[in-house]
Amino acid sequence: MDLLVIGDANPDVLVFGAPATPAYGQSETLVEQGVLALGGSAAIVAHGAARLGLQVGLAAMVGRDAAGDFVLDALKSAGVDISACVRHESLPTALTLCLNQAGGDRAILTAPGCLAAFGPEHVPAVAARHVHAASYFLQPRLAAGLPEVFRTVRARGATTSLDTNDDPSGTWKLSEDLVEQCTFVLPNQAEAVALTGAVDPLPVLAAAGTLPVVKAGRDGCVALSGGERITARPPVAEPVDTVGAGDSFDAGFLAGWLRNGDLRAALALGAAAGALSTRGAGGVATQPTWAEATDLAQRVEITSTQSA
Ligand SMILES: Nc1ncnc2c1ncn2[C@@H]1O[C@H](COP(=O)(O)OP(=O)(O)OP(=O)(O)O)[C@@H](O)[C@H]1O
Ligand SMILES: [Mg+2]
Repeated sequence: MDLLVIGDANPDVLVFGAPATPAYGQSETLVEQGVLALGGSAAIVAHGAARLGLQVGLAAMVGRDAAGDFVLDALKSAGVDISACVRHESLPTALTLCLNQAGGDRAILTAPGCLAAFGPEHVPAVAARHVHAASYFLQPRLAAGLPEVFRTVRARGATTSLDTNDDPSGTWKLSEDLVEQCTFVLPNQAEAVALTGAVDPLPVLAAAGTLPVVKAGRDGCVALSGGERITARPPVAEPVDTVGAGDSFDAGFLAGWLRNGDLRAALALGAAAGALSTRGAGGVATQPTWAEATDLAQRVEITSTQSA
């Protein structure tokens, strides 16, 4: 297996054209469009990686309900190995409602369901070349055991990455010594600032022992490697929907890096995969194939500067 992804999987219910504040009082409001899509950062990464041609497995927990069936069917049809997905007998599958506004901003309402029950004991000891963990703050039991999981993975020569995503509690506290167990940390700009408390989070994360890659929406991403700041900027395109763009970026970045360990090529492929995923509604519908991603990656602008 090339990649094992650990983390959240749930249906996303996406609503487009919702009012900024929905009317209460039992009133029914008509909106432009509603889409049911595979969601959960880990599920979107696994789906994207499979689409890019990687041999990928997902370790996740869903309930024994229709939402869980939907998630597992979508992953299986995409070629993701779901043999490490477990079903909680009584708690429901997580569910997310995304209210999208024109211009790309959105409110995300998540019922975590069984995510709180998912823990390190559910992560199988498979011989994957790389292990990626997603949505750290939604899975406190997994989070507590993640440094040890990653230490074991690295002891057998594999590499690791973490995309924390948002922290609904606003605490932003990672377990001690987790960052040094991450080959890559892949937050977006706001998350990186919140995690480090620094205006410039890259040096702080690098000093903690990882190679940080910080995502920046339409501006692409910036990485700090050996004192060199490398940016990758995709060509300008008007997005249809940016849900899951960061997760599709992760899939592209990891696929690129696992190909030959070339960081610049991986950043370009990540930026291309993220940008291409914004062509359609939901996180997975327009994730690119390897040919599509490498084609756009050639037009991603790479620049670099040596940090002081
Ligand atoms: N408006 C856009 N135009 C072009 N590319 C975009 C746009 N938004 C995102 N991308 C691409 O997607 C990548 C990840 O985007 P972003 O910074 O939004 O991540 P994120 O906040 O982690 O996303 P997510 O909401 O999925 O967690 C960017 O690096 C870029 O390549
Ligand atoms: Mg993200």
